[in-house]
Amino acid sequence: MSTHQKPIDPELIQLEEVHKDYVCGRRRVQALRGVSLDVRQGSFVVIEGLSGSGKSTLLNLIGCLDYPTRGRVIIAGKDTSAMNDRALSRFRAERLGFIFQDFNLIPMLNAYENVEYPLRLKGEAKAQLRRRTEAALEAVGLIDMADQRPAELSGGQCQRVAIARALVSQPDLIVADEPTANLDSHTGERIVELMRSMVERFGATFIIATHDPMIACHATHRYRLRDGRMVFE
Ligand SMILES: Nc1ncnc2c1ncn2[C@@H]1O[C@H](COP(=O)(O)OP(=O)(O)O)[C@@H](O)[C@H]1O
Ligand SMILES: [Mg+2]
Repeated sequence: MSTHQKPIDPELIQLEEVHKDYVCGRRRVQALRGVSLDVRQGSFVVIEGLSGSGKSTLLNLIGCLDYPTRGRVIIAGKDTSAMNDRALSRFRAERLGFIFQDFNLIPMLNAYENVEYPLRLKGEAKAQLRRRTEAALEAVGLIDMADQRPAELSGGQCQRVAIARALVSQPDLIVADEPTANLDSHTGERIVELMRSMVERFGATFIIATHDPMIACHATHRYRLRDGRMVFE
């Protein structure tokens, strides 16, 4: 993993009046009701809000896992609604990294293989695979645990593996949904500090949903959702 900064693409994320409705049978939930947001490269953006306020919905749109009902989601200059499913999944694999509250590691694979996985999906050359995977494990302080499977690691170590996996392909953007929700507060704090340090070291950009106030104090930009709308404090 190189420490060189990526060329500045000032607006990495642009949301314009984004709405998202979920329809289940006759019921319609307006999960997002006109959210606009600009995120610059190198930001550590924190989205706060109570459970049900729309944080995961927002992250799913930014992470190109779903389409908005209305409005525009533009990531690295690309309007996601102009991409079909196939193009969107390629875009995700090439440009985005994900961190989840329950880590989402593959249980049969050891730490090394979990981190290597996204590079394999991209069809990266063998020599690159090893170099990058080791660098990512090194960056999260887990090179000595490369052979351990998730069941043999603590929650904090699992989340470090997940961070290494998110960073290994040098994505433009890392999307983290409640990354500390399943960690004790001390471990959570170290995970946040680790993610924060990735901004300086690798020019990474993070967008993090949380209701952990401890994360928010590390934010470069802080927003709050309430009932699907941004509230400004
Ligand atoms: N797949 C879904 N189908 C129907 N309703 C959903 C779905 N996902 C989320 N919702 C609803 O949308 C609202 C926002 O949910 P969510 O984005 O998960 O909020 P948060 O992550 O802040 O807890 C909630 O009312 C939730 O019940
Ligand atoms: Mg959520």
